[in-house]
Amino acid sequence: MAMGVALLFVFFLSLPGAGLHAQKAVTEITIGDAGGSPLISRHIYGHFAEHLGRCIYDGFYVGDSSLIPNKAGVRNDIIAALKELEIPNLRWPGGCFADTYHWKDGIGPREDRPTIVNTWWGGVTEDNSFGTHDFLNLCEALEAEPYLSGNVGSGAVQELADWVQYVNYDGQSPMSDLRVQNGRKEPWKVRYWGVGNEAWGCGGHMRAEYYADIYRKYATFMSGAGVEGGLYRIASGASDDDYHWTEVLMRDIPHRLLQGVALHHYSVIDWGNKGSSVDFSEQQYFDIMERSWLMEELIQKHSAIMDTYDPEKKVDLVVDEWGGWYDVIPGTNPGFLYQQNTIRDAMIAGLVLNIFNNHADRVKMANLAQTVNVLQAVILTEGEKMIRTPTYHVMNMYKVHQDARLLPLTFESPNYEAGGKSLPALSVSASMDEDDRLHISFVNIDASRAHTVQLPLAALGVAKLSAQILTGARLQDHNSFDQPEAVRPAGFSNFSYRKGILELELPPHSVVVLAGE
Ligand code: AHR
Repeated sequence: MAMGVALLFVFFLSLPGAGLHAQKAVTEITIGDAGGSPLISRHIYGHFAEHLGRCIYDGFYVGDSSLIPNKAGVRNDIIAALKELEIPNLRWPGGCFADTYHWKDGIGPREDRPTIVNTWWGGVTEDNSFGTHDFLNLCEALEAEPYLSGNVGSGAVQELADWVQYVNYDGQSPMSDLRVQNGRKEPWKVRYWGVGNEAWGCGGHMRAEYYADIYRKYATFMSGAGVEGGLYRIASGASDDDYHWTEVLMRDIPHRLLQGVALHHYSVIDWGNKGSSVDFSEQQYFDIMERSWLMEELIQKHSAIMDTYDPEKKVDLVVDEWGGWYDVIPGTNPGFLYQQNTIRDAMIAGLVLNIFNNHADRVKMANLAQTVNVLQAVILTEGEKMIRTPTYHVMNMYKVHQDARLLPLTFESPNYEAGGKSLPALSVSASMDEDDRLHISFVNIDASRAHTVQLPLAALGVAKLSAQILTGARLQDHNSFDQPEAVRPAGFSNFSYRKGILELELPPHSVVVLAGE
């Protein structure tokens, strides 16, 4: 497995205090010069909310007549949990749904809004009660930037141009007048716009060459008036290792029309046999870790293509869908993609976020799929109950990296072996924030072995260290509505700091975030 972080030594060492003959493998990690390092964009920690299953309806949105405490119909407990997470952006309304969505259906008095059928997700009736105002006001409450996904597959150029004018224009215009008539005077000034979604699939089954032309047309008519710095337009990107797709977009779309190119990669064992989200074997766990590590190779290879056409790295890579994908919980609607979230998902989150951090020079934005009740959710709800998943806790522990300067690391990971195959057991990223606080996030995906790491920190002037860990007795451990706190972060002190050398033992299947100042 190729790793973004390079080589070092795994060696055997006798440690003071260890038994006379006791020896253990120690992975030495060196921290390089951060001089030329990029900032880790906070937008890497973005989220995604689609009109899918119970993400919006009976998830975020319960309606303003609900007995569940809410603000304009959105649950207060969800708003509070996401604010604590400091989510930087939220993508909406899809996904596949976005290319069926006609935004004018979701504005004006609710009783006048038409219904549609959500053809991608469960064939249920969508009453459009949650629309543009609801979403953008929610983003304001979350202090998160909205990322609107425009309908290219079944919508017209004029329709998308109108949506941009409706939400962004602050002078007099047909669409801004309509917005004011619907109760909102000030424009929201939405910067992030997706120009279609999965154009190679649910967004229209287009060829890359055809989509590149379509993109040019739609992007041309999306006006950046009123948005400081102009719009940030994101092209519907490749699925997994479709490098031809990225090549064509980078080659055929003028870069002045293009701020980001997307990439979708899910950690899924086999689309025909995804396996349970809770009852899985170690081999299935290993396979999911293998699919998660693949993100490293995908980013390296898509970035290399982008480098050819854009050596100055002006166009960003936006991984606007990622996460673990399993079979739905038995008895739930197969089109609703409702799954549990275990220690395995915490490993995916820690590992993939480290990969994004370490590629902060090209990866500027990412969106975990999805926020509430769908796929690798950070929040699950049942009636008035709400729980934070293990993935929530990892995102919360990692938020310290947002907008901090990446510190380059060099090491060679020991292996995690299962079923005759092996993967790097350790994934690590580090950053220094603007107040000179050091943060290092470690993931040990090994299902049964602890691994010890050493890092020289003296050069960073670190005097005080503290750490948090997320782990569980079993890979399958998770939070439930009866036991909402079964998995949660705890203080971690299994490390020493002597003569400027940090030594830390990472338990099996654990995420540890260390803070130094
Ligand atoms: O996140 C669920 C779906 O996965 C999205 O709607 C689509 O873009 C992707 O295929």
